Amino acid sequence: MSQKFSFALHATDGAARTGVISTPRGEIRTPAFMPVGTAATVKAMMPESVRATGADIILGNTYHLMLRPTAERIDRLGGLHKFMNWERPILTDSGGFQVMSLASLRKLTEEGVRFSSHIDGSKHMLTPERSMEIQKLLGSDIVMAFDECPALPATDDEVAKSMRLSMRWAQRSRDAFGDRPGHALFGIMQGGVTRELREESAEALTRIGFDGYAVGGLAVGEGQEAMFGVLDYAPGFLPEDKPRYLMGVGKPDDIVGAVERGIDMMDCVLPSRSGRTGQAWTRRGQVNIKNARHQDDPRPLDEACTCPACRNYSRAYLHHVFRAGEMISGMLLTWHNLHYYQELMQGLRDAIAAGSLKQFVADFHAQRAMGDI
Ligand code: GUN
Ligand code: ZN
Repeated sequence: MSQKFSFALHATDGAARTGVISTPRGEIRTPAFMPVGTAATVKAMMPESVRATGADIILGNTYHLMLRPTAERIDRLGGLHKFMNWERPILTDSGGFQVMSLASLRKLTEEGVRFSSHIDGSKHMLTPERSMEIQKLLGSDIVMAFDECPALPATDDEVAKSMRLSMRWAQRSRDAFGDRPGHALFGIMQGGVTRELREESAEALTRIGFDGYAVGGLAVGEGQEAMFGVLDYAPGFLPEDKPRYLMGVGKPDDIVGAVERGIDMMDCVLPSRSGRTGQAWTRRGQVNIKNARHQDDPRPLDEACTCPACRNYSRAYLHHVFRAGEMISGMLLTWHNLHYYQELMQGLRDAIAAGSLKQFVADFHAQRAMGDI
């Protein structure tokens, strides 16, 4: 592979940053939002439509793909990019987080985690070494270290023990990943909402050395204020010249607050999942298309939005197809939501480059405060 993985910072505004991650499969403009394609599909979207919303990279999941259709089968079929027809970069999560939320009969040891599949009850084992092997079979461009995210509420002692286990697993992940030019390995910071533990975790990861660093263990029920509290210091513990990825975040206002605090990458199921349950996100906040107030409304979801759902369909139509359980409902709302998220990221990138992030954020909040049309 001639082209390597690299990150170039182009501008900063306060703690916020904008730049470009270069990979052999294309560039990722940061701050970046990564749509979630858990089971080798961003649900309800063709890959070319995902790209049309402005996405540079999508996320896949070790846990789901190892169970079905299996990493070995995807490898035999030419890798995840070819399998799902997405040629641009893919980041894969490492599996531990999903095991803890989805699998049953989990047994956690120093070695790894043994569990039963949520699909058919079959027994499996994930370790740092196996997670690296699976993510290599998938052909992932950005591989995540294998970690554990403690269930909350937890005591400081439990969070510390779990974080230190994740740091030993981070070293084993680094050793097992080896040297793979053009592919990146990211470490994952843990430590709950305790500053000293976050600092200890960041030091352990930096000593090992990764191509990028994730902030894990947030958006797990602690609330936005506590999450922003951690983000006020945690990104500052990480190397400035490497991408910083906040895992599993979030709502539009979470994203704006995270970017203000120095986060470069994020992922969340929210825009795609809520599109399938009749929730739309616009500049003016959240819109519930199920609501009867839309049934005679000929106006689009958002007059200023250039997505197909807003250019070609009325609120009355979107309301009707949702109520009728038609598949196009999830397709149109997911497209709109992903488009809105990507426009928000472009707005953030432009504002950071122009040094006008404060004004952009003030406008963002002012438009939401006006409420839906
Ligand atoms: N997704 C959201 N949070 C986390 C985390 O802490 N670790 C991993 N691996 N994935 C996540
Ligand atoms: Zn739209």
